[in-house]
Amino acid sequence: MKNLISAGLAAISLSVLSFAEVAAGNTPTIEDAMIAAGRDVFEYRCQACHSADPAKNAFGPSLIGIVGREAGSLPRYAYSRAMMKADVVWTEDNLRGWISNNEKFMPGTRMRHVAITDAAEQDFLIAFLRSLK
Ligand code: HEC
Repeated sequence: MKNLISAGLAAISLSVLSFAEVAAGNTPTIEDAMIAAGRDVFEYRCQACHSADPAKNAFGPSLIGIVGREAGSLPRYAYSRAMMKADVVWTEDNLRGWISNNEKFMPGTRMRHVAITDAAEQDFLIAFLRSLK
């Protein structure tokens, strides 16, 4: 958590310090800081079940390329019926709904309850998920 907070602070101070760069349309430093903060959230909240190894399914399915992917669409992973039946594309909005309360978002999912309700923490995590290509 301490890591997360310092990474979050780094993201905030970066976003202040590099305002000139932002004005010049040069934003990757902020995105990088967001991703780093999101990696901490991921390691703490998700990695026990989702491998960060590109092609690997662990207890949970691989999340590589998750943004824009159809729910339950990896061929070699045994999803719940709820996930298979769901007509959901993992847009950033849907991912936000999922990580803030996955069981409410998709009743019947096999993923253990996750509730990340802090908006900044959600932003960081989604930035990290976006970087998984
Ligand atoms: C306790 C293990 C566990 C944890 C912790 C966990 N997941 Fe999952 N996750 C799963 C399982 C199992 C599934 C498959 C669910 C199903 O089939 O209903 C899943 C499915 C998913 C999916 C849908 C993938 C697809 O291919 O459609 C996403 C997105 C996801 N998890 C993101 C996350 C994120 C982000 C976190 C961290 C905040 C997280 N998960 C934490 C076990 C976990």
